Amino acid sequence: MDPLELLASLERQLKPYKAEPDVPAFAELPADGLPRAEVTALVERLAGTEEERWRDGFASGAVYHGDAEHIDFLNKIYAIQSQTNPLHPDLWPSSTKYEAEVVAMTARMLGAAHAAPEAPIVGTVSSGGTESIMLAMKTYRDYARERRGIDRPEIVAPVTAHAAFDKAARYFEMPLIRVPVGTDFAADLAAMEAAITDRTAVVVGSAPSFPHGVVDPIPRIAALAQDRGIGCHVDACLGGFVLPWARGLGYPVPDFDFRLPGVTSMSADTHKYGYAAKGSSVVLYRGRELRQFQYYKVADWPGGLYLSPTFAGSRPGALSATAWAAMVSIGASGYTEAARRILATGARIRDGIAGIDGLRVLGDPLWVIAFGPDDDAAGGPVDVYQVLEYMGHRGWSLNGLQRPAAVHLAVTLRHTLPGVAERFLADLAASVAEVRANPEVRTGMAPVYGMAGSLPDESVRDLLGVYLDLLFEV
Ligand SMILES: Cc1ncc(COP(=O)(O)O)c(C=O)c1O
Repeated sequence: MDPLELLASLERQLKPYKAEPDVPAFAELPADGLPRAEVTALVERLAGTEEERWRDGFASGAVYHGDAEHIDFLNKIYAIQSQTNPLHPDLWPSSTKYEAEVVAMTARMLGAAHAAPEAPIVGTVSSGGTESIMLAMKTYRDYARERRGIDRPEIVAPVTAHAAFDKAARYFEMPLIRVPVGTDFAADLAAMEAAITDRTAVVVGSAPSFPHGVVDPIPRIAALAQDRGIGCHVDACLGGFVLPWARGLGYPVPDFDFRLPGVTSMSADTHKYGYAAKGSSVVLYRGRELRQFQYYKVADWPGGLYLSPTFAGSRPGALSATAWAAMVSIGASGYTEAARRILATGARIRDGIAGIDGLRVLGDPLWVIAFGPDDDAAGGPVDVYQVLEYMGHRGWSLNGLQRPAAVHLAVTLRHTLPGVAERFLADLAASVAEVRANPEVRTGMAPVYGMAGSLPDESVRDLLGVYLDLLFEV
């Protein structure tokens, strides 16, 4: 496909309001401010047109709770706290209280009670999974430099660990050694062991991974790290608020958290299955000493003594307040019930996909279900990207994966509503049938992924840059 043609079609998709004359666009400030009622009405109208898809469960991940009463409750807390900034703990000690309690409750949920008293599980809040991961990687870099005298500390992570680890590696100039996963899509332990050197600052495991929802062999990764005296970060951004409850419900969940003495840090996202508003996560460390390497402190600035725990300076205290409010209003029983519904729906969807000729489920997932073409299918494998495209025509917003070609659905509470899982499976079967009936057709994202697979990585990155440019065009 011609890249220009591709961009034109992307622009139509990404900028639907450009085609609507009654939606005003502002490339400069209006000379006089618009009446608040008018602004509110416009924002409400656009939100209204966008709400249906996620509310009715057509999205993978994205909105993890989404019940109207829960949203109203969080919005109320946000509104009460909208002016707060934890950079000023003197003005808003309530923000500090909420943040400390969010960290403590998350730590306790993830095995903090098993930690030795001299190295308690501590942490900070952050703006999301990416920031939590980046903070942890910067922490290991600085720790390795200062305490172990390593010039260019390295990260060892499975290929399936989140792209945020690449971002951290780039930003902090830490070589990232990616190791393969096995046919089960879990980290290959032998490859991981072989990748560890004297320069390794940290090894990474996911619980579970974003692409395939597979939990890496964390007990063995953690043991490896402990033997070598290096850090072990468990990325539980997706699973931190599900796996502890899954275990209680009897699902086969091996230890993945601070119960394992080799685990030295974790990331867990309040803004995913913690059911808080978007913009919050927790990063945890074993011991106060390690956490010190995350902080930023300036002693000689004319602006005063400056200190900030994370990357941002000023921060939205309101988001920490909504995370706290979500956690204390849902409680352990509420999270257990949410996990029960999500895991039951995940199992139903997984079994349903496995029953569709042409597709196979990748790995052994619980609720983030990836599927790809089944080479052994009676009717032959199908082009899974064209299936993704036809699912899009039916309203679905799923995630395309690559290497290997696959698609996933991260099951949320939206999919546990009556009829949603059945609709997903019926639409998936119909999309597969459509691909089979039109074997030559490649439209929408199918040729994009096809193109991405055939171009050098650098050219794909250039195209992604053009895509990002497009997002910021008025
Ligand atoms: C396993 C995992 N880690 C990290 C992230 C990054 O989180 P965020 O998008 O909140 O930055 C995600 C996001 O889906 C994830 O699934």
